[in-house]
Amino acid sequence: MKTLTIGLFGFGVVGEGIYRVLLERPELGTRIKRICIRNPEKNRNAPKELFTTLAGDILDDPEIDLVVELIDDADAALRICRKAMQSGKVVVSANKKMIAENLTELVALQTKHNVSFLYEAAVCGSVPIIRNLEEYFDNDWLHSISGIVNGSTNYILTQMSLNGHAYDEVLTKAQELGFAESDPSLDVEGIDATYKLCLILFHAFGVIVDPHSILRKGITSLHPFDMQYAHEKGKRIKLIARTNRVNGTQYSAAVLPGFVGHSSKLFDVNNEYNGLLIGSSLADEQFLSGKGAGRYPTASAVLSDISALRYGYKYEYRKHSIGVDLSSHDKTTVELYLSYPARKKIDDSVFSQIHESYRGTDRGYLTGSITIGHIRESDWLKDNTVSVITLN
Ligand code: HSE
Repeated sequence: MKTLTIGLFGFGVVGEGIYRVLLERPELGTRIKRICIRNPEKNRNAPKELFTTLAGDILDDPEIDLVVELIDDADAALRICRKAMQSGKVVVSANKKMIAENLTELVALQTKHNVSFLYEAAVCGSVPIIRNLEEYFDNDWLHSISGIVNGSTNYILTQMSLNGHAYDEVLTKAQELGFAESDPSLDVEGIDATYKLCLILFHAFGVIVDPHSILRKGITSLHPFDMQYAHEKGKRIKLIARTNRVNGTQYSAAVLPGFVGHSSKLFDVNNEYNGLLIGSSLADEQFLSGKGAGRYPTASAVLSDISALRYGYKYEYRKHSIGVDLSSHDKTTVELYLSYPARKKIDDSVFSQIHESYRGTDRGYLTGSITIGHIRESDWLKDNTVSVITLN
């Protein structure tokens, strides 16, 4: 087993978490030598001499062999990871935006400099999804992955639906609890979930997808009317990230709110918990669940990567093939519910079938079958007065 000397970037929720955990686990044979921070004025709960504001104090130190990058500025994170790998250092990161947007370069850097770059903490916090997809499901024929990959939105939706709390109040609470991104619109608009879905797509199917090409609607357009509808039908609303392999080599991917019923394993995935259903032709359905956000759950995934690096683990990307285009002509059909202000005209011609339609005094809804491609092209997808929720 190697002993590792760590240079840590960032001392926020997760950075401080991993610092505390490593202090309590001397048997891991790792030590944090330096911590690079942006603001030297802030009071930190660690010895002053550990801190620096100069990235070079870590990146140019030959004694430091592992860089743990836990900052939320994706551009700065990319520069740090690039320089660290070029200097032959192994790297652990939790920056899903940076990784999802730069997969091709990051894979090439690992090969060129023969270094490991691990990022289990970037997807679903403590849930070990990346390494499972990479190793355990390496030989199985996966066809779908779907589930809850963002803890903040799940916390918000749970508190609204089970405890009747108001959206703004619970969003603030999610920030206070350290679940939300520093810019929480990344959570509530479903953007964070698209980054995570890209990493899932890459490790499940070996394909690189542009996160901005994923069909997406967050939770900001949801209306009390939808909560009431869910309640009456005995369902809960969750933000669901989903990907399917269609016809062997085509892929469908979307992040949309969805109604989830009792029979789904996602029904009882509440608060900051995440849950993933993995569909494979041999194992059938597998379910992984655990805390997806917060200091220690995320630190546990970082710790697991650090431990794996002690025995030289690296992702081998055996499935890695080519980039794919998630075309707007995606023919995957979903069952969809739309709700909208009663006076609004909704173009329903893009539905192949309408199952239900209702117009009340204030709000109306319809349900029907529609392809992902048609949702993408609809004029109501981007309309904030329209709720878009999947039924399956
Ligand atoms: N903001 C993220 C979430 C943090 O709520 O899931 C963990 O990636």
